[in-house]
Amino acid sequence: MALTPPSERIWWRQPIAKIELIWIIVAFTWGLIMFFMMIYWHGAGKQNLSNEAYQIKPQAFAQKAQAMIDEYQVREESGFPVVRPPPGSDVYLIARLWQWWPILEFEKDQSYRLHLSSMDWQHGFSLQPVNINLSVQPGYEMIVTITPDVAGEYGVLCNEFCGIGHHNMVGKIYVVE
Ligand code: CUA
Repeated sequence: MALTPPSERIWWRQPIAKIELIWIIVAFTWGLIMFFMMIYWHGAGKQNLSNEAYQIKPQAFAQKAQAMIDEYQVREESGFPVVRPPPGSDVYLIARLWQWWPILEFEKDQSYRLHLSSMDWQHGFSLQPVNINLSVQPGYEMIVTITPDVAGEYGVLCNEFCGIGHHNMVGKIYVVE
C-alpha cells in the first residue's frame, strides 16, 4: 500500500541492484549521444535551415519589401511584380491574406538572405517541390540564407490555415541559370 511508509525509511541509502545501475548508465549515455547528435546533425544532416528571427513591425517590413521591389523589379506577371535582387542581398517576401508578394527571381548557385514576415496573421511558408517549411508570423521576421542550386520554377504554398482564401495563397520563386 502506498499509504504506508516503506519498511526501510531511508530507502535511498539502500545499495542499488547491479542490473538497475547498468540500465541507468545505458539510458544516460544514450541520452548524451542523442543530445550531441542534435547539434552534429544540424550541420552534417543538411536538413535543418539555420535561421534568425527578429521583431519587426509589419509596416516597417512592408517598407523594406517595397524599397526592394522599386529598385529591382524586372517585369510583371498577372499583377505581381517580379523582382530580381542582386546576389548576396537582403530579399523580402511578404505573406498576407492571401498572397506571397512579390514573385522573386534568384540566380542559381548564388546566396541570398531571405526575410519572411506576415502583414496580418500566421501563415506557413512551404517551398515546393523541395519541401522547405517555415512558420511566418506578424511582428517577427524570419531570416534564412538560401543558395538555390537547381534552376527552375518553385511554388510557395501556405501550409497554415489562414481563412477562406488559404488555398489560393500560392506564390512563385524562379531560379535562373
Ligand atoms: Cu496563408 Cu494559409
